[in-house]
This record gives sequence, C-alpha cells and structure tokens, in this order.
Amino acid sequence: MNKYSSITLFLAVVFLTTCKKENTSNIKLAQHCPPGFELTADNKCLCRSLYHQYKSLNNAGVGGLQTGLPKMRDGFSPQQIDLGRYLFFDPVLSGNKKLSCASCHIPQKGFSDGLARSTGFNGLPLNRAAPTLWNVAFLKSFFWDGRATTLEEQMQGPLYAENEMNNTESNLLATLNSIDQYRELFMQAFPDKKKNEIQLHEIYTAIAAFEASLISLNSRYDLYAHGFHQALKPNEIEGMNVFRSFVARCAECHTPPLFTNQQIAVLGTPEQDDLPFDPGAEKTFNDPSMRGGFKVPTLRNIAKTAPYMHSGKFKSLKEVVEFYNKGRGHAVPLNEKLSLHWHIWEPSLTATEIECVTDFLQTLTDESFLPSTPEKLPSGFLPSDKQNQIQ
Ligand code: HEC
Ligand code: HEC
Repeated sequence: MNKYSSITLFLAVVFLTTCKKENTSNIKLAQHCPPGFELTADNKCLCRSLYHQYKSLNNAGVGGLQTGLPKMRDGFSPQQIDLGRYLFFDPVLSGNKKLSCASCHIPQKGFSDGLARSTGFNGLPLNRAAPTLWNVAFLKSFFWDGRATTLEEQMQGPLYAENEMNNTESNLLATLNSIDQYRELFMQAFPDKKKNEIQLHEIYTAIAAFEASLISLNSRYDLYAHGFHQALKPNEIEGMNVFRSFVARCAECHTPPLFTNQQIAVLGTPEQDDLPFDPGAEKTFNDPSMRGGFKVPTLRNIAKTAPYMHSGKFKSLKEVVEFYNKGRGHAVPLNEKLSLHWHIWEPSLTATEIECVTDFLQTLTDESFLPSTPEKLPSGFLPSDKQNQIQ
C-alpha cells in the first residue's frame, strides 16, 4: 500500500466512524426536573409553587387571591417528561409525517396556534380553535366540550382522527419501533419495562408527562397575589377589582388561581359565519340544558392565545370583554333557545372599566418555564414548529 492510499484508507475509516457516531449518537434524556419541579429520591418530579402554602380550592371559597391549587398530575420522572418533549414536537407521530402536536400547539403562541380554526391533515380547517396547554396538569376534563377526562384519553383524539394527525395505533407503534433511537429512549424513560418494544401506554404517559410540566403560575398577577403589591399598576388593580366584582362576575367562572372553575357554562358566544351552531357539551353529556355550553377556559397566558373562544371568533381581549358587556344572549341565533348561565348578564361596564379589565388580563402572562424546542429529533424530522416558522 503506498503512502497516498494509506492516507485515503485512514480518512475513509475516520469518515465512516464519524458517520457511524452520527447515526447512533445517543440522546441522553434529562436527569433533572423542569423548573418549578423538585426531584424526589425515587426519581419523580413534584410541582412546587408558592400556591402550595394556601388551602385547597375546595374549602377556600371563590376568587380569593390566596387560594390553593386543585389536585394535579405530577410525579413523572425527568426522563419521561423529556421523552414526551421529543414526541410532542415530532411529526413522525402523524400519518403523513407532517403534523406534530406542536403544529397546532405552538410554544411561542401560548401552545395555541393563532388561528380561529386549526389546520388539520391535508390542510383543511377543523371546527374549533386550539386551546392553550399551559396548566393542563390541573384540569379534570379536556376539549372545549369536556369530552375527555384524562390527558391520555384526550391525545388519542388528535392522534387518530382522520382530519387531524390521521395515524392508527398499529402504524404509530410500527413507526416508533422502527427507529432505534426511540427504542433506546423509551428504555431510558421506562427502565422497568420487560420488552425492548415501545408500547402505546408508554407513548401516552410520556406525552402526558410533558404536557403536565407546562406550569405557568409566576405572572405579575401572582406576585401581587403573594403580597408584592407593586407588581400591578393602578389601572390593572382596578381591572382586577372589576373582574372579581359582583357586577362583572368574571371570577365566578374564571376563578383564581387557575382562572377557571373547570365547569361547563352556556354563554351564547357566536360561531364563525360559515359554521352551523356548535352544540358543545350537549353532545358530550347528552343533556339539552348544556346546548352551546363549553368548558370555562383558563385565562393564564391569555394575551398570547388570540383569537378567542371555541370558535376563535374574537380577535382581541377587548372584543371578548365587550361581548360580555353587550347583554345576555345578544349573539344567540333566533332559532336557538339556550339555558344561559345566570352569571351572564349586562354588567354595563364603562369604556374605562373595559380597558382596565383588558389590561388586567395581560398581567396573567408568565412563560418563564417555556420548554425548549428540541434541536433535532430521534426520527430525523425537523421539529414541526420549526417547520412552521420556516414556511
Ligand atoms: C391539527 C391541529 C391539532 C393537532 C395536531 C393537535 N391538536 Fe390538540 N387541540 C386542537 C384543537 C382544535 C383542540 C380543541 C378541540 C375541541 O375542543 O374539540 C385541541 C385540544 C387539545 C387539548 C385539550 C385542552 C383543554 O384545555 O381542554 C389538549 C390537552 C391537546 N389538544 C393536546 C394535544 C396533543 C398532546 C397533541 C399531539 C398528540 C395534539 N393536541 C395535537 C388542535 C390540535
Ligand atoms: C358563566 C361563566 C363565565 C363568566 C361569568 C365569564 N366567563 Fe369568560 N368564558 C366562559 C366560557 C364558558 C368561555 C368559553 C366560551 C366559548 O368558547 O364559547 C369563556 C371564554 C372567555 C375568554 C376567552 C378564552 C379563550 O381561551 O379563548 C376570555 C378572555 C374570557 N372568557 C374572559 C372573561 C371576562 C373578562 C369575564 C367577565 C366580564 C368573563 N369571562 C366572565 C365562562 C365565563
């Protein structure tokens, strides 16, 4: 072998070993909990917040500033949360490998998508707006009409709906199991598993773990609630007082600290012009008195998630507050008789009060625990919220 061919051989070996390294380069899942969580001795992440010093919602009345949090989903391991993060951003989870959870729940848009109606498989619009995922760990029911009772049950909606991610259980399993890197990551996240084969319930657990890590409880409003009064400006405090007043009654439904009482309420909000009346929770509970009823949404990070309501009909927070001020039932179609909630009335707020409430809603923004989008994915696809940004 002459000098040049041995150099070529040497370079070829170096090249091949580097390539091999690239292919099998191991992603190591996080060993630490996300911010806001404390790691226990048995490798579980428990949520820690100043709200834990207050009594629980059940025995503390309505709307108090220092009200405790309801029970939540925590106790996942750092590895499960981190694996869920990869899955959440990975379009390999959809039938055509183009849509990930993050396509419609974009972190930079408050985990919503900025659209009145989300865009599904084949680019067609869905019927409702994508809700935020901040603080879903505390929720008892999911979807606008409350039709799912766990995060695991909820995600099987978008994963397998023909007009959303359009996958099937068997195809999802086959796809993930064909990616060595994912097999390895599932072993890291579920070290007790018997088989080196990815199971559906592990996929659901990991995604739920990630969703349940999206905590937003450190807004300027929270500083105020914990006793730092300078955190809010006078107009915002005035807005908060209107929000909590017996005139506006916002806090009866949007109850602190989550700014939802987690109930269904019939408001009579308008639909998009081209859509028929949405029966909402009537269908879920087979109860005509719930016709047009929707789950009271959280108002955390609400400034980030326009447009608003299940229909995405209102473009700004001011439009929303004006809706409540326009009078009970003003947007209900003539042929509909709805059992409107008794707290929906005519508060007759002045223009200044409407401004102040709108200002107050902006103080509920806190994205300090925003997770980072993975740079690369085990599937080799681009994280799909990055694709969105490129397009
Ligand atoms: C094509 C867009 C789209 C995709 C993809 C998508 N979602 Fe959604 N998501 C929505 C819409 C729209 C709703 C509301 C639907 C309804 O209420 O009927 C929703 C609702 C939810 C909710 C309920 C929130 C609440 O407060 O009730 C959760 C949780 C959620 N999605 C998580 C996920 C996860 C996890 C994935 C990936 C497995 C995912 N979504 C994929 C559009 C999408
Ligand atoms: C009777 C319960 C109730 C009261 C009182 C109430 N809301 Fe709501 N709120 C809801 C429900 C239910 C929805 C979702 C309705 C829909 O999608 O059609 C909603 C939606 C909203 C939204 C849009 C959230 C999103 O993610 O799109 C905002 C903002 C809001 N309310 C603010 C207020 C303010 C401000 C007040 C007081 C003036 C108020 N609400 C009073 C139940 C209530």
